[in-house]
Amino acid sequence: RSFFESIGRATVLTIVIGAGGFYYVTKRERTPGAQLPFDPEKKTVVVLGSGWGATSLLKTLDTSDYNVVVISPKNFFLFTPLLPSVAVGTLSSRSIIQPTRYITRHKARQVSVVEAEATDVDPINKTVTFKDNSGIRGSVSATTISYDYLVYAVGAEVQTFNIPGVQERACFMKELADAERLKSEFMDCVETAAFPGQDPKEIDRLLHMVVVGGGPTGIELSGELHDFLEDDLKSWYPELAGRIRITLVEALPSVLPMFSKQLIEYTESTFKESKIDILTKTMVKEVKEGSVVLQMPDKTIKEVPCGLVIWAAGNKGRKLTQDLMAKLPNDQTNRRGITVDGYRWQHLRHRRLHRYLLCTHCPVASQQGAYLARILHQMAKQDSLAARLSELEAAKSEDAPAHVTETKKVDEKEDVKRQLAKIKPRPFHYSHQGSLAYIGSDKAIADLPLKNGNFATGGVATFLFWRSAYLSTLFSLRNRTLVATDWLKVKVFGRDVSRE
Ligand code: NAI
Repeated sequence: RSFFESIGRATVLTIVIGAGGFYYVTKRERTPGAQLPFDPEKKTVVVLGSGWGATSLLKTLDTSDYNVVVISPKNFFLFTPLLPSVAVGTLSSRSIIQPTRYITRHKARQVSVVEAEATDVDPINKTVTFKDNSGIRGSVSATTISYDYLVYAVGAEVQTFNIPGVQERACFMKELADAERLKSEFMDCVETAAFPGQDPKEIDRLLHMVVVGGGPTGIELSGELHDFLEDDLKSWYPELAGRIRITLVEALPSVLPMFSKQLIEYTESTFKESKIDILTKTMVKEVKEGSVVLQMPDKTIKEVPCGLVIWAAGNKGRKLTQDLMAKLPNDQTNRRGITVDGYRWQHLRHRRLHRYLLCTHCPVASQQGAYLARILHQMAKQDSLAARLSELEAAKSEDAPAHVTETKKVDEKEDVKRQLAKIKPRPFHYSHQGSLAYIGSDKAIADLPLKNGNFATGGVATFLFWRSAYLSTLFSLRNRTLVATDWLKVKVFGRDVSRE
């Protein structure tokens, strides 16, 4: 047999095995099996939220230990780091979401998923009240349930600092609807600028995009907007593309303060090449109709005309969290979030209230979710061993049918005690895997912690690393395939410029 024939056969075999494996995994993802029913003997864990913390917890949790109820206004998990890609059409919005039921239906015991917003938590009576806030409601749209353990993973909302006009006029970059709205408003600006007879000054205003916030969200979004402009708008709006301007406004002296100095400089020089203006030490004071009011580094006030203001200036705790904090004045030592126990093994456990709290920063929340799932499993084991021990201790010796059984019982008691002593959960420890951000022009930056220091890198190779890191972080094969296909589609056909 010739060499080429052997290579050909090996290739065909690899493709067949790969396709078979792919089919098997996707089929398994799509066809969940039978589940254990709710067990009244088990404790109830109520999970608030369906974001990073909650989803990671649900993935890892052994639901045979508990009855689990998930309450979230969204019935899906949103992969937030790729949201800026949706805003310019690099990715389709469906590619970065995963319905929560795709996870819960694969668990050992059934999990109740409720699409509703938690409106009140009563930590003393251990109840949660929730309401269906969707467009369509049935005869019952609000109710209260009890919990044994509450996993509080409601995430954050956009921080506007009560700056006038932000809430009403700026576009946010927090939820899926924000990314979809941004795409539509951005294209509206471009189409309005293309309106016959449009005043040249007005064209420049409409095509000026102001991104507020030099954190990872603002940087990635500016980079994506630049790509959209270079790769697509230049072809379809040749008369306008050269007039589109992107300005990034940051209140601090530099962008991306969490990255090393050399990567900050690399980002700034890449942005300069991409003609994205960075205004540091500049604060947005007001968002007006058609303009943004800036406080410049020399404290002068300047009104800058613009078509769109995109607000990526950070997040804050939700109202529900603030209400809860107000109910716990004696436990609260921190104004920014709910104080949790940092000393005992239940690191994330609130001192008295049987609640577990998950951070709003994605990698931290994700690790906390998985950690908490393991802790809950250990606690379930502890509970069942403790119950068995008290059963053995309560059993009267005269109940024992013979001395052999009695010996066995003593043996089992010792064994149960040994197993109980072995359960020593370790405190939560965040393992930092590094920081990554896309900066446009097929370049990314990465700060990776190594044993002997930090490894800082930026460029096209890092961009490929960024893509593979995000692909592997996506929670399912389905999402990985959809995202990879979108990237390929955009490479071949470009982004869609139609306005939905
Ligand atoms: P952020 O809080 O990191 O950045 C917001 C920036 O806006 C700050 O630098 C702040 O100084 C600035 N700012 C606030 N008010 C302003 C004003 N009035 N005028 C001008 N500038 C103002 O927020 P971001 O980027 O949304 O990130 C939120 C969290 O998510 C962070 O923990 C971040 O690390 C994480 N994240 C990480 C990503 C990654 O690693 N690739 C991607 C997206 C988010």
